[in-house]
Amino acid sequence: MALPTTTKHYFWPKFGALANISSKESKLPPLKSHEVLVKIHAVSLQYRDLIVGLNKYHGDFPEELVPCSDMAGEVIAIGDEAGSQWKIGDRVCANFAADHIAGDTSPEIQKTAHGGAIHGVLTQYKAFRPYSLVQIPDHLSFEEASTLPLHIYSCAALTAYNALMGPVPVKSGDTVLVLGTGGVSIHGLQLALASGAQVIATSSSDEKLKIATKLGAHHVINYKTTPNWHEEVLKLTGGRGVDHILEVGGSDSLDKSLKAVRIAGWIHTIGFVGGGTPTEVVFPTIRKACFIRGIQIGSVAQFKDMNRLLSLHPEVTRPVIDKVFPFEEALKAYEYLESQAHVGKVVIKVA
Ligand SMILES: NC(=O)c1ccc[n+]([C@@H]2O[C@H](COP(=O)([O-])OP(=O)(O)OC[C@H]3O[C@@H](n4cnc5c(N)ncnc54)[C@H](OP(=O)(O)O)[C@@H]3O)[C@@H](O)[C@H]2O)c1
Repeated sequence: MALPTTTKHYFWPKFGALANISSKESKLPPLKSHEVLVKIHAVSLQYRDLIVGLNKYHGDFPEELVPCSDMAGEVIAIGDEAGSQWKIGDRVCANFAADHIAGDTSPEIQKTAHGGAIHGVLTQYKAFRPYSLVQIPDHLSFEEASTLPLHIYSCAALTAYNALMGPVPVKSGDTVLVLGTGGVSIHGLQLALASGAQVIATSSSDEKLKIATKLGAHHVINYKTTPNWHEEVLKLTGGRGVDHILEVGGSDSLDKSLKAVRIAGWIHTIGFVGGGTPTEVVFPTIRKACFIRGIQIGSVAQFKDMNRLLSLHPEVTRPVIDKVFPFEEALKAYEYLESQAHVGKVVIKVA
């Protein structure tokens, strides 16, 4: 098969408005001997992709940044010195940060984040170093797999996995609280269930809570109609509080998370979708003797571990895809994510 010489891709000519997103066809640089060429089939969006476009994300970006970090695709060429790990036709996802292989992140690794510090994956073809890629579990489609780095293979899934499998991993019988029904939280709900935990889910919408219940959440709370949702969490846990919280709300919810966590429990600070003013953490953290742990996606090693869990429990961990948009309608996909009408993941089908 003749290899492609060009790739159609999206890019940001300037940041500040989603409508700025543009597409063009560019020459593919010749494949380097240590690289693997991937035909991208699906890309899943995450909140970060949105705020990068809106110029609300920190960091230095390359000129005309190609967006997005989470993709699923197929190996179509292998450089002469790219080793024997991959063969043509293998189904793969790329890790969020290309050089995050194992262990903690580092300033150098942070400079390899797709769709941010380096160009991303909203493109037809892209070359990767072989070690940045992870095999997609057989039971998942490309669209499903594109959410995994956040779960198929999106950084959403891996973020939730990293949170739940941290220094004190979730164990059977624990209670996990997930906030909202976005990509990270729904993956977290599923991974917690697969690990034998009880799950409490919150949302702004009763309709979305019905979906969370269908997915297996044991208890649900509408945080709009029950603004003091931490009191409900304490009631549901007999006053004890929860073992792990996937904290995606940020300043808007952290004070309540500090009330909802059990003594010596874990708050995994992941996001800031709720905005709000910074929370006083010193006294509440001491009072709860709890742990607040910042999360930065995860490594290739964790990605592989997570995929084993997904393969073992396909029925409870199948990625929840709200909507799939064609490649030509990337802007609509971004706007849909911005509307927060979704539950789980929004995906762009590339091939
Ligand atoms: N640190 C990391 O490694 C990492 C990785 C991935 C994502 N993140 C961050 O995690 C956050 C979530 O990302 P995502 O991709 O899952 O976003 P998403 O799919 O866009 O989900 C957004 C959802 O958050 C919920 N939400 C909004 N305001 C809320 C509030 N005040 N309290 C609780 N929930 C609220 C809403 O759910 P309902 O409509 O159901 O209320 C909304 O649909 C973002 O801030 C993102 O930047 C961090």
